[in-house]
Amino acid sequence: MDFNKFEKIFDDYVNRYIEKAKEENNEAKILNLTNKKIHSYKVRDNILKIASLENLKVNMFIVEFIGLFHDIGRFYQYDKYETFNDSKSEDHAKLSIKVLEDEGIIKLIDYEDRPYVVDAILMHNKKDLPKDLDRKMYLYSALIRDADKLDGFRTITVYERENKNLAYFKNKSDEPTISDEIYNNIISHKSVCKDNLETILECQITTVGYITSDINFNATLKLVKENNYVDKMFEMIQETERSKNIYNFVNTYIENRLSSANKK
Ligand SMILES: [Fe+2]
Repeated sequence: MDFNKFEKIFDDYVNRYIEKAKEENNEAKILNLTNKKIHSYKVRDNILKIASLENLKVNMFIVEFIGLFHDIGRFYQYDKYETFNDSKSEDHAKLSIKVLEDEGIIKLIDYEDRPYVVDAILMHNKKDLPKDLDRKMYLYSALIRDADKLDGFRTITVYERENKNLAYFKNKSDEPTISDEIYNNIISHKSVCKDNLETILECQITTVGYITSDINFNATLKLVKENNYVDKMFEMIQETERSKNIYNFVNTYIENRLSSANKK
């Protein structure tokens, strides 16, 4: 299937919000919506890369669709609430499904593929995946989560801490601290809840922590390594005792996992 048609649908929809933000002269909104549009395309590229590197038997059209449209609800969310924080607004994954339905986009997907699209998108922002997914459902859901996180690593390397318009750092303190809870979760491979972060450093380190808690495919880790994301992220992160420990912990994890994959 020709994906250009879907890119056009996506662009037309998100550009409406970006144009509206320009009319409102809302610099923060323009920036955050534009970043989200870039993120959507990067995640689309990532998900295709991971699926082909892993040689997965999946429908590549569905993979590409989930990649590009997983965050389509973000535009309405930011327009209405001026935040990407789901706990202060609405679950953006549910909003994405609502947009796909309201705009008649989901109808363009074959009927039997729709549950995969809907469920993979609904689960992409949940803390963990349910354990009992069937193989196909698992693959689509795991792919979008990895592709999304991979772009999360890129964004840290390009976001400037000083930019007060960035939703990512909004209302976060500049204190160089990582709470005991967050630190202990990260070094025990547990995912950290994004809702209770207080410092910029905690936001950054929580994203880094996805590498050791929540990456499903070795291909994703290979891409982390190839792009040198760990070093690039830590260039942007304030150095503290705890951040240094996490840096070593993450690098060791990547090396161990990739070298045991090579032995197989
Ligand atoms: Fe998302």
